[in-house]
Amino acid sequence: MAIQEICAVRANEYLGSGLYRMVIKTEKIAASAACGQFVHLTCGEGNLLRRPISICDADSEAGTLTMLYEVKGDGTAWLAARRAGDKIDVLGPLGHGFDAAKLGARPVLLGGGIGVPPMLLTAKTCAKNSAAVTMIAGARTRDLVVLEPEFSDFDYTVCTDDGSYGVHGFVTDVLREKITGATGVAACGPKPMLKAIAAIAKEAGVPCQVSMEERMGCGIGACLVCACALSAKNGETRYGHVCKDGPVFDAEEVQW
Ligand code: FES
Repeated sequence: MAIQEICAVRANEYLGSGLYRMVIKTEKIAASAACGQFVHLTCGEGNLLRRPISICDADSEAGTLTMLYEVKGDGTAWLAARRAGDKIDVLGPLGHGFDAAKLGARPVLLGGGIGVPPMLLTAKTCAKNSAAVTMIAGARTRDLVVLEPEFSDFDYTVCTDDGSYGVHGFVTDVLREKITGATGVAACGPKPMLKAIAAIAKEAGVPCQVSMEERMGCGIGACLVCACALSAKNGETRYGHVCKDGPVFDAEEVQW
């Protein structure tokens, strides 16, 4: 059940390269947030337009929620100007996240670019279920690598497209090496990356869940902005809402 709450900003830290990490105080949303879900934030005084931001971490004891975001326009620039103590209007947690139990005892998690943050809560949730987590993170270049210390508790590999840090190559190159023995794959990132990951998982016979990025309007299933084509069981096409039915889908369901 989504909660609308006016939340205090605890911290809003610049990570470089247009990326920020915001921590907000919200006992109720933090207590019910699950991995792969997102929150919808109003970005501006008197501005009713909300922006979807994925949940990077939720601490129900501290009552805090962490989000990483990239400044892309006026809304996220407004968000970046918030300071500790400022208030923001938060609706969440929203969407259908990753099914950590279904990922099994040896999940392989992948994130690309701004798709890396939601994999942190996913990794922690799997680890709570006693799973041995493998995490593969991809970035275009060294300056865009995020959350490296936070992922150090897991079997973690970072790759960069330009070879400036970690493995020179794509997350899919590492996935091919690590997929043997995996019980599930979960990924978040750009669609071409998800498509390639889904194909590798399918070939290996490993179930795969993908978090789709789609433009959003209402965030609660009331408009059609986020419609995506899915395969129904009878082979026909059906349309789902990324905000409500997703953002996480079974990769087999997605029409690539
Ligand atoms: Fe409105 Fe999904 S954003 S239905």
